[in-house]
Amino acid sequence: MTLRAVVKGVGHYLPERVVPNSEFEATLDTSDEWIKSRSGIERRHFAAEGETTSVLATHAARAALKMAGMQPDDIDAIVVATSTPDLTFPSVGTMVQAQLGMTRGFAFDVQAVCAGFVFALTNANALILSGQAKRVLVIGAETFSRIMDWTDRSTCVLFGDGAGALVLEGETGDGTTSDRGILSADLNSDGRYREMLYVDGGVSTSGQAGKLRMQGNQLFRQAVEKLAETAEAALEKVGLSGPDVDWIVPHQANLRIISATAARMEVPMENVVLTVQDHGNTSAASIPLALSVGVARGQIKQGDLIVTEAIGGGLAWGAVVLRW
Ligand code: ACO
Repeated sequence: MTLRAVVKGVGHYLPERVVPNSEFEATLDTSDEWIKSRSGIERRHFAAEGETTSVLATHAARAALKMAGMQPDDIDAIVVATSTPDLTFPSVGTMVQAQLGMTRGFAFDVQAVCAGFVFALTNANALILSGQAKRVLVIGAETFSRIMDWTDRSTCVLFGDGAGALVLEGETGDGTTSDRGILSADLNSDGRYREMLYVDGGVSTSGQAGKLRMQGNQLFRQAVEKLAETAEAALEKVGLSGPDVDWIVPHQANLRIISATAARMEVPMENVVLTVQDHGNTSAASIPLALSVGVARGQIKQGDLIVTEAIGGGLAWGAVVLRW
């Protein structure tokens, strides 16, 4: 008998305002054609004024709890992956806890930028396997529109806002890869790549939130190599490989990165959940958003083998293998 963290519910939330690529043509030297062909992005959602990360996260959490048939007080812990918190502190996790009306358990945030959800999921799995919690709400939520430099065409057209959430519950399996739940994970970071993707402000430097800066083409090369490597490493830990996978649910940063990674893993694009065209890069929210949309579309079904993979600022990157 092996304890597994099994997905019991999934949900997402996207702000109402949809911004098509064409909207940037009025203020920037860019085009719908450039954005679509270089990134695969066609539109993204931007949060309304006052619609903060914790608000998006709470909507997604409610949807996931509803699918799980659980109440907020059934949850022992909330782990939120975000790099765009409402405030420097308290954590978005505790804000979500309050907004859900949850009066027990504990909540905290994890920050690994676009890889944040993979790190949060791995932490949640560890909480369940160590007996700290039986039921964990894992959320990825971001308002990257708040850290865009709207004069920088090489970054501001790529990102969007949104949130996704999973409810995990500890259940016993038979210890094989046929078990439902999280089967393995692979986490990495290398701080020497800091200049490739960062925000040029913060509490103990400028005292301001700052704006996102990215060396896109250098990051592109790192991404394809590291994403395939980490996904394969996570699969290898449980004796599996690319062709065993039903779905790659990748971080949705760039369609060209997603397809090059899938090709390296020998997984056809029919087995990749794609939302980048509709959401842009929502950083830590992108994987749980894609999981939720994949379920709503009828793509992901119970028993499917899924590998998630993501890379972001740090650099930090990783992958999780789970059976839905
Ligand atoms: N519209 C028109 N032209 C543009 C735009 C734009 N919006 N943005 C850049 N360009 C220009 C550049 O100025 C450059 O012009 P030049 O040749 O005259 O200098 C030209 O287009 C090519 O620029 P590149 O940056 O080389 O274009 P590339 O094909 O690499 O695509 C992109 C850029 C989409 C950013 C790509 O590099 C990418 O997706 N990188 C990875 C991003 C990523 O994965 N991030 C993940 C983590 S995100 C996180 O952690 C928060």
